[in-house]
Amino acid sequence: MSLVLFGPPGAGKGTQSSLMLESSSMVHVSTGQMVRDAIQNKTPLGIEAQSYVDAGKLVPDSVVIGLIRELLDKNKTVNFIFDGFPRTLPQAEALEQQIIDVTAQPIHKALFLEVPQQMLLERLTGRRVCKNCAATYHVQSTPTKVEAVCDKCGGEVYQRKDDAPEAIETRLEAYEKSTAPLKEFYQKKGLFVSVDGVGNSKDVFERLRPYLK
Ligand code: AP5
Repeated sequence: MSLVLFGPPGAGKGTQSSLMLESSSMVHVSTGQMVRDAIQNKTPLGIEAQSYVDAGKLVPDSVVIGLIRELLDKNKTVNFIFDGFPRTLPQAEALEQQIIDVTAQPIHKALFLEVPQQMLLERLTGRRVCKNCAATYHVQSTPTKVEAVCDKCGGEVYQRKDDAPEAIETRLEAYEKSTAPLKEFYQKKGLFVSVDGVGNSKDVFERLRPYLK
């Protein structure tokens, strides 16, 4: 049984995925992180994706669906936490089809993290991420102990290019246009669960815990 964790940019999908992994044997799939890794490693996919990601636009469906297809083909029995995928209706349909065709692990629930827009802006503008291990911090709520140095691995902590104000605006627009309709998609399938994403991350996690395998 796999889970979809979705919501607007900055809702806390990555933060909650990390906490969920501490309490389950599921495997985390973040398409955002996969794309950022490809950009850092300058792979053909990374080179194609970079201009989209930096501007806050969605990477074309064909690219992201290809990544997920490859992953599911190789991991037929794994229980996944999908973070940031699907993000469009074609992606949701492709995931469903791939699950029917290839794996025996259906989507158990689509968990939607609900956070007001002003709070999303505060979270995104204050976010800092480790270049090495991708640990996530916030300049106010969870700062690093030493400025710009990751507490976990000592790597360099930086601000993502797509956390600049113009890119955040584009990401929020892309979310409203392409990702918000997934609520109805999963409601119709009886899989949709809305989870209050406000409060400290441990409190939010306690609301998600009942859905873990
Ligand atoms: P992606 O990395 O998926 O970005 P996103 O969806 O915009 O989500 P974020 O990573 O910004 O936020 P989050 O919800 O994970 O929040 P976080 O936990 O970090 O995608 C990046 C780009 O890749 C996309 O724009 C697109 O170009 C491309 N892409 C990826 N997937 C794609 C797809 N399927 N199709 C097409 N293109 C795709 O938290 C944010 C901040 O808030 C942090 O600082 C954190 O410390 C803080 N915080 C978290 N929870 C709390 C809390 N409870 N209280 C206080 N602070 C909190």
